[in-house]
Amino acid sequence: MGTRRSSATRQEGEIRKVAINTGGGDAPGLNAVIRAATLAAINRGWEVVGIRDGYNGLFLPEQYPDGGLINLTRARVRGITHMGGTILGTTNRGNPLHYPLVDKRGRAYEKDRSDEIMRAFRKEKIDALIAIGGDGSLSIANVFAEKGLRVIGVPKTIDNDLEHTVITFGFDTAVSFATECLDRLHTTAQSHRRVMVVEVMGRYAGWIALECGISGSADAILIPEIPYDIEKVAEKIEQRDHMGRHFSIVVVAEGAKPIGGEVSVVSKELGRADRLGGLGERVAQELQTLTGKEARSVVLGHLLRGGSPTTFDRLIALRFGAAAIRALAEGQSGVMVALDPPRVRYVPLEKVAGRMKKVPLDCDTMLTGRELGICFGD
Ligand code: F6P
Repeated sequence: MGTRRSSATRQEGEIRKVAINTGGGDAPGLNAVIRAATLAAINRGWEVVGIRDGYNGLFLPEQYPDGGLINLTRARVRGITHMGGTILGTTNRGNPLHYPLVDKRGRAYEKDRSDEIMRAFRKEKIDALIAIGGDGSLSIANVFAEKGLRVIGVPKTIDNDLEHTVITFGFDTAVSFATECLDRLHTTAQSHRRVMVVEVMGRYAGWIALECGISGSADAILIPEIPYDIEKVAEKIEQRDHMGRHFSIVVVAEGAKPIGGEVSVVSKELGRADRLGGLGERVAQELQTLTGKEARSVVLGHLLRGGSPTTFDRLIALRFGAAAIRALAEGQSGVMVALDPPRVRYVPLEKVAGRMKKVPLDCDTMLTGRELGICFGD
């Protein structure tokens, strides 16, 4: 795999100060990356700062009376590996490349503020950035790499929808928790002879729904990759009823949509992705009408983003953090660390930016689901 050096590439000894930021939705394992990257950098004699709330702490100093940058010392990153969230804060509003502003007449418009941010990096004498984020954050980081900053990306998202890495950290924790929830819902669904519809995150890709659904013995799984026919799901529930199985579990990814229909959007806002939601309740109501069985919906939503990372997520997060600093020391820039078991490798950010890793419909996990008799709404 080829790697790219930015125009600002210097020798290892010339790095003195590294910044770390976390962008987009949080994911279990962010703090483990921060700790590993900080310790690996300090052990090379580099200074480390964390930028608060994406890039906001750097280019909107007026919003941070206590300082938008946090000195990351050994003491500051002690005891955080197992903690959910991010000690730096994060944001999925105000993409700096399309920053939402309002003009004097009250009209909303977007502005590219990347040059202001580049000036702020220079002012703070920051030589390199470790950008921890999903597709959106890594696309933004790629622009800074192209403008000459040394940048290493670290792939994060519970949705696991980033290309060129086998997995992102946060996904395993989210799937494990969702599976535990399905186990719990089974008993109450069975007791009440109900249909339980469980909505999980998964905006563009159905990895969480697919993996928790199969592991948690769901009867139907609806994912963004397969537009669904609700009648097919109702048929599956009725078939089970005839076999004496009077309850069913249906898992829906928030980004799934009916054949010929649209995704379920709650609200739209300039400078951020549409807020999705409501699909689980809609599917439950439709299934109740079609089958005559009582149906209830549960939204796992942000519960999937919280909690302590699993051992798997902790370990890859620590490996990614250390590898990001190792990449800088090797003179790399404009790359993302990626898991390619058993090793971690570097992939050019431009190959990741703007791409989505969807569930391949012929993958072994999908085939397994079909062979188990799970309905995918098609
Ligand atoms: O992290 C990605 C994601 O989990 C998506 O699946 C979801 O649509 C989004 O975050 C929701 O983010 P928020 O509610 O924080 O804006």
